Amino acid sequence: MRKLTNILVTGGAGFIGVNFIRFILGEGITKPDYNGRIINLDALTYAGNAASLHKITKKFGSTRYFFEHGDTSNRSFVEEIFKKYEIDTVVNFAAESHVDRSILAPDAFIKTNVLGTFTLLDVARNVWKNQPDVLFHHISTDEVYGSLGETGYFTENTVYDPHSPYSASKAASDHLAMAYHHTYGLPVIISNCSNNYGPYQFPEKLIPLMILNMLEYRPLPVYGDGKNIRDWLYVEDHNNAVWTTMQNGKAGEKYNIGGDNEWENIKLLNVLIDIVAKKVNEDAEKIRSTITYIKDRPGHDRRYAIDCSKIKNDLGWKQTVSFIEGLERTVDWYLANPEWINGIRSGEYHNWIEKNYSRR
Ligand code: NAD
Ligand code: TYD
Repeated sequence: MRKLTNILVTGGAGFIGVNFIRFILGEGITKPDYNGRIINLDALTYAGNAASLHKITKKFGSTRYFFEHGDTSNRSFVEEIFKKYEIDTVVNFAAESHVDRSILAPDAFIKTNVLGTFTLLDVARNVWKNQPDVLFHHISTDEVYGSLGETGYFTENTVYDPHSPYSASKAASDHLAMAYHHTYGLPVIISNCSNNYGPYQFPEKLIPLMILNMLEYRPLPVYGDGKNIRDWLYVEDHNNAVWTTMQNGKAGEKYNIGGDNEWENIKLLNVLIDIVAKKVNEDAEKIRSTITYIKDRPGHDRRYAIDCSKIKNDLGWKQTVSFIEGLERTVDWYLANPEWINGIRSGEYHNWIEKNYSRR
């Protein structure tokens, strides 16, 4: 098992990063065995939210948790952080992560996902040199593999075939990460995960967007025919897999992570409506009547499905949260955190949502 001491978490103020930091510091459902430090480097874009970590800062600030506001593509800043905290491990969550935004404005995706990852890799190579016991864990997505037909699964050997500016920028960063392993011997691991859901997710993604719209009787915008399929995984199960891989995964390897949990968007939405209706004591049919089919996302991938037998067989990871349990938890969290929701609902948020609805 790898000994990890000073972990640089990039993008730790975003959805998965916040959940990772909470989990690793023992504030999640399962408690990992980690006594070292967490250094969170985040640019606090629209998707990053320092408020998500207030409790963590109170409890662990200046002892085990440190926040550094900055950009992964800023080389001198990244170098300074590596030296200041004697970083031995990087887990690179930082990214522009929303497909619809990448269609409207791809520039930031190239800067953060490609240039940011390149900068981190190159600083790691230069600072670490041939230091033992270091690790660069790069977080990626199943979207790099493209789109599936009705059958089949993405394996670690599936050839990359990205279709959106988001997935193309993630594919580029994956290739750079593996190239740094092959060329310079940098100990790199990549994990490619399916769609995550859970607390702290920015409400532009399907599940939180639908929950908040239901609570306000806003239309529930379904793209195209609603029959696109995604494989859903509860965020802490993803983070548990990342942690397992960081500890015991083999450098130079890729690991697919998935939920074994495929859902057509429209079927998922109907289940979510039933859960929300029950929790707020509302008529499910009234909420269902607000479903609105809108013009499809350009280049919308039809189906994603992950074969995650490698991480299960080699590292003993498995999913623990059922879909219904995970959705219940997620809805409960959004209902219990109106301040968090109000905090992120700036003018920018509403501008974005309105722009998106204009496809109706
Ligand atoms: P997110 O958009 O919620 O958060 C991204 C975080 O990165 C934010 O805190 C943002 O401020 C920060 N960031 C953006 N640009 C930065 C920069 N240049 N420098 C420093 N910080 C920057 O994303 P997420 O959903 O938490 O995704 C995290 C990672 O997981 C991404 O790499 C994404 O590609 C990958 N992933 C996400 C999913 C999913 O379903 N959300 C699935 C598979 C993989
Ligand atoms: P999303 O959460 O954006 O994740 P990704 O595109 O990275 O898989 O979308 C999940 C699915 O839901 C995808 O097929 C697009 C669809 N979708 C809608 O139908 N309506 C929406 O408002 C959103 C945000 C997504």
